[in-house]
Amino acid sequence: MTEKQLLDLLHEMTLKEKVDQMLQITGSFYQKDANEVLTGPENKLGLTAEDLRYAGSILGTAGAERLKKIQERYLETQPHKIPMLFMMDIIHGMKTVFPIPLAQGASFNPALSKECAAAAAKEAAVSGLHVTFAPMADLVRDPRWGRVMESTGEDPYLNSLFARAMVEGFQGDDPKEPYRIAACVKHFAAYGAAEAGRDYNTAELSEHTLWESYLPAYRAGIEAGAALVMTSFNTVNGIPASTNRWLMRDILRDELGFDGVLISDFSAIYETITHGHAKDKADAAQKALDAGVDIDMMSDVYSSNLCRLVEEGAVEEALVDEAVLRILRLKNRLGLFENPYKDADPEGEKRYILCAEHRALARRAATESAVLLKNDGLLPLAPKSSVALIGPYLRSRGMISSWAIAGELSDCVTVEEAAKSVFDPRNTYYADGCPMVSEGTAFAGFREETPCAVSEEKQGEMLREALDAAKQAETVVLLLGEHYLQSGEAASRAMIELPEVQMELFREVYKVNQNIAVALFGGRPLDLREISRKAKAVLEAWLPGTEGGNAVIDLLSGKANPSGKLSMSFPYCVGQVPVHYNMDSTGRPWIPGGQDRCRSRYLDIPNEPLYPFGYGLSYTEFTVSPVVLDRDVLTKDTPLTASVLVKNTGTVPGVEAVQLYIRDEYASVVRPIKELKGFQKVRLAPGEEREIRFTIDEPMLRFHTADNGFSSETGRFTLYVGQDSATENSTCFELA
Ligand code: BGC
Repeated sequence: MTEKQLLDLLHEMTLKEKVDQMLQITGSFYQKDANEVLTGPENKLGLTAEDLRYAGSILGTAGAERLKKIQERYLETQPHKIPMLFMMDIIHGMKTVFPIPLAQGASFNPALSKECAAAAAKEAAVSGLHVTFAPMADLVRDPRWGRVMESTGEDPYLNSLFARAMVEGFQGDDPKEPYRIAACVKHFAAYGAAEAGRDYNTAELSEHTLWESYLPAYRAGIEAGAALVMTSFNTVNGIPASTNRWLMRDILRDELGFDGVLISDFSAIYETITHGHAKDKADAAQKALDAGVDIDMMSDVYSSNLCRLVEEGAVEEALVDEAVLRILRLKNRLGLFENPYKDADPEGEKRYILCAEHRALARRAATESAVLLKNDGLLPLAPKSSVALIGPYLRSRGMISSWAIAGELSDCVTVEEAAKSVFDPRNTYYADGCPMVSEGTAFAGFREETPCAVSEEKQGEMLREALDAAKQAETVVLLLGEHYLQSGEAASRAMIELPEVQMELFREVYKVNQNIAVALFGGRPLDLREISRKAKAVLEAWLPGTEGGNAVIDLLSGKANPSGKLSMSFPYCVGQVPVHYNMDSTGRPWIPGGQDRCRSRYLDIPNEPLYPFGYGLSYTEFTVSPVVLDRDVLTKDTPLTASVLVKNTGTVPGVEAVQLYIRDEYASVVRPIKELKGFQKVRLAPGEEREIRFTIDEPMLRFHTADNGFSSETGRFTLYVGQDSATENSTCFELA
């Protein structure tokens, strides 16, 4: 449709019809029978049968046959034949589940995430979906927050690259194209800054930090053309995001230039009442509309109030029109007026869902995301040596996340299955060792699961079996980790340690065999002090997805060489949180080994995280030469080039992510002690050396100034090139 046709359509619609377009309900209102009958107004939300019948979109339901039926029935009565939109959280894969976004961040390979997003879009599109609520572009610094698993980490630059790549992967050049879906950048804004890592908590941050650290990734997703943005649950500057006019109109629309559909998070407009901001539903409706929120997800705030408010003259109908026009434009952008079923196709579901190509991609992504944290030469496992694979992740299919809502655990390849296909049965031993968690452990997420009760006797038996295996083998691989329902939404944890039952197993095995490699699973950085001190090797596999078992065995066996780099620091312990590499400089920085008493440090622990951002080992070794600049003065018109020689000094081929950091030594606003400004992944054969060049230009040195500008300032900079954020391999230049 042309813009003119959309406007004509808008003018033909009744006020009620318009307001219904602004309502989103869940698919649970439809009975899963052949006719997809609406369950009627038996709901708690106060939605009428009419609201339900004409709601402009639904969320959380997939399946080609099912969505086609719902659309067909909807169009039979929708007065203007305006098709319904189907949305769902396709976060890191649909049925083929890719590694969690935090892991994808560790691949330092946004192009790979783009491929994963495109594959997810294809599976989603044939299942009848039009929109995914991804990517989550929230910057994260606090591993207590369960949703760090859904972010690509603590760095604004890295997050921006991933937000862009994922939007491009989902949408392609045009979301109307076959097998593409619209992307929704979320959660605007600063949801990741929840105080104390407790989900939904207040985000307390300065406007400077908002601009410098939190907004860039949302901006990148928006600039990549994301069709939607979602509001966050938290307050920003004391006002809930969903009713925050300044945030949504001044920042999102005017400053970031977003002109797509702004959707609230689940019931977030309604919750502004609980926040103590809106007086009642009518007030919430007025405030959210005023802020420019177009769709009310799962509450009756808009549908029960907007018509009346307009009729009473309390709300301008023009505001409703503005929102509805954006919704109609989105439906049009997806081509739904011409083809309301888009790619929904049961045959396509059979062909593409979990196809060999997607599984291979999932395996590659899981392999590239894993981070080798420690290796005293124990990995890869020596060929023909005997090995005991022990731990609750041996046979667990819980390698997806609580957010892979369309994914099936049964499709996951376990570590044991993968191992059995490659390891010699004569010298490989397998044992569960212990339950995943102890009884009574709290879980959250979109799956019903309770920790299984294991009797003491059974637990003793599991341990004995594990110790027998550990004694017989030369090497033990312990497959440990958080349960997959211990991270994700509403899954904050104050103690970021491995489940105690697993630590007990670790300590018992350590008594009989100290050749321990730990493969770790989970959705967040954990406190790994004891593990990293005692184990000879530690491989962080995250929640690697459907092909997790195969990827882990590829890495342990040396078929693949780890190349991941942490996208989020692993704190020394929880007392250090939030800890991130790009902190601002203090006036009293601690210099390790220094004698000064009054310094910014802890008396009892180091300032440094256990493993910093950008860190990750390989089975080979690399050296990076001192940095050489082609000039040491940079001007607005003349960029400079920094180069290093990177050499593989080990015995196997490997990939290194060579990282460029810059520090602005003095500025009108205090700058971080280091900021990632670029990286290149280089594959080198043993003995091979290659020159890596980075171009540094003036725009890379810009920052958010005190007067709300974005500019660079002349002065001295330190430039670092190395293998992680702790690198000291540096040189200086001037910006003139
Ligand atoms: C989450 C969003 C999600 C939405 C719809 C909310 O609880 O915060 O990230 O997209 O539900 O499922």
